[in-house]
Amino acid sequence: MENRGNFATKLGIIAAVAGSAVGLGNIWRFPYLLGQNGGAAFFLVYLLCVVLMGIPVMMAEMSLGRMGGRNASGAFKALGRPKWSLLGKMGVLCAFLILGFYYVVAGWTLEYTFQAIKFDFIGQTPGDLADSFAAFSTHNIRPIVTAVAFMIITCLVVSFGVKKGIENSSRMLMPILFIFIIVLAIRSVTLPGAMEGLKFLFKPDFGKITADVVLSAMGQAFFSLSIGMGCLLTYGSYVKKDVNLENTTFQVVTIDSLVAVLAAIAIFPAVFSMGLDPGQGPQLVFVTLPHVFNQMPGGSIFAIIFFLLLVVTTLTSTISLLEVVTAYFGEEFNMKRGKAAVVASLINVPLVVLASLSLGQLGHIQLFHCNIFDFLDKITSQIFMPLGGLLICIFVGWILPGKDLHESLSNKGKIKLRIWSVFYFLVRYVSPVVILLIFLGQFLR
Ligand code: PFF
Repeated sequence: MENRGNFATKLGIIAAVAGSAVGLGNIWRFPYLLGQNGGAAFFLVYLLCVVLMGIPVMMAEMSLGRMGGRNASGAFKALGRPKWSLLGKMGVLCAFLILGFYYVVAGWTLEYTFQAIKFDFIGQTPGDLADSFAAFSTHNIRPIVTAVAFMIITCLVVSFGVKKGIENSSRMLMPILFIFIIVLAIRSVTLPGAMEGLKFLFKPDFGKITADVVLSAMGQAFFSLSIGMGCLLTYGSYVKKDVNLENTTFQVVTIDSLVAVLAAIAIFPAVFSMGLDPGQGPQLVFVTLPHVFNQMPGGSIFAIIFFLLLVVTTLTSTISLLEVVTAYFGEEFNMKRGKAAVVASLINVPLVVLASLSLGQLGHIQLFHCNIFDFLDKITSQIFMPLGGLLICIFVGWILPGKDLHESLSNKGKIKLRIWSVFYFLVRYVSPVVILLIFLGQFLR
């Protein structure tokens, strides 16, 4: 592929990496998993996973990308370990599989933006909202149209390249989204009966922690931080040498966790106030938030802006996913960026169609007791990403010379590293062992 490009400013890097991390994972997936997995206990395990695996893997992956200076697969060849490029290829496949179901949910955010613009939520009871979500998401055509529309928008942005496309679109909107979620959270905690929701979120019942809950929390940590599948490796390859990756990691992890927590605070008090089931699954956000909007003065306008912002944060995540595949096709098969993005998107269409139909018409097709949509979600977040993270730790901790890694992270001593020894210890010993133990926990049940 021609000229690779770099992120132009430090703020641009944080915005782009945070843009990848913050998305449906925080606002849609985290709350519904939390609801299904017992609330506060899941939350605690999640935070532990972020510290023990999220931070080390994120830093390791970005430094690996910067050292390799290529796409997820090519980076390993550039570092003289061509066999390891299989790990990068696994990441490319993982990005492809995630996009298969992520575009479907991304399409839902588009649909809800249109509904908000048409003031459709007004006067709907929680029951109506649940029925209308079910009717839409199980429809044979409508959700496929919105998913494909989202795919086209993503493809257009990625075709324009790193600086113009990704950086500009992520930089400004994140702070606005932040403020919106805070306002929503305030409205939610002031609804009658909200206290129950806060208890559910913050008062852990340790008896609820099972091997499944732990696996699910680990998967969510990897998914939410976009780590373990070459996405941040690819972004790392666009980061200049003088950027302090320690700081980038801390900032991104903080922003990502805050958005997830705020989203949960916006949702659960409302769920309990409405007397809904917190464990209702993927529809949770789409049923609860419109109800919260209905309870707010000026809620209909607020809803329009909120869903628009959700579309944009979702877009910065789909961009980063498509970028993994595009950089790979572009560099390894010598395609122009635009063509690589179009080819990557076209071959994704059948999977997106299947994932969407599996929520309705094709619901009877089961893979390991899951429909296609859930299957894609589970194998990527609970297998591919942690496995990728494990192998990244082994590569960075045991194969790459520690001296080279330190030199790159510290830009030959010009950047003062604050947590180098803790980081290196975590990457070599703690993160890989914890990932392995959580995997093993599945067999020992
Ligand atoms: N982190 C994104 C989210 O929370 O929505 C999802 C994601 C983006 C996962 C990019 C993986 C990735 F490479």
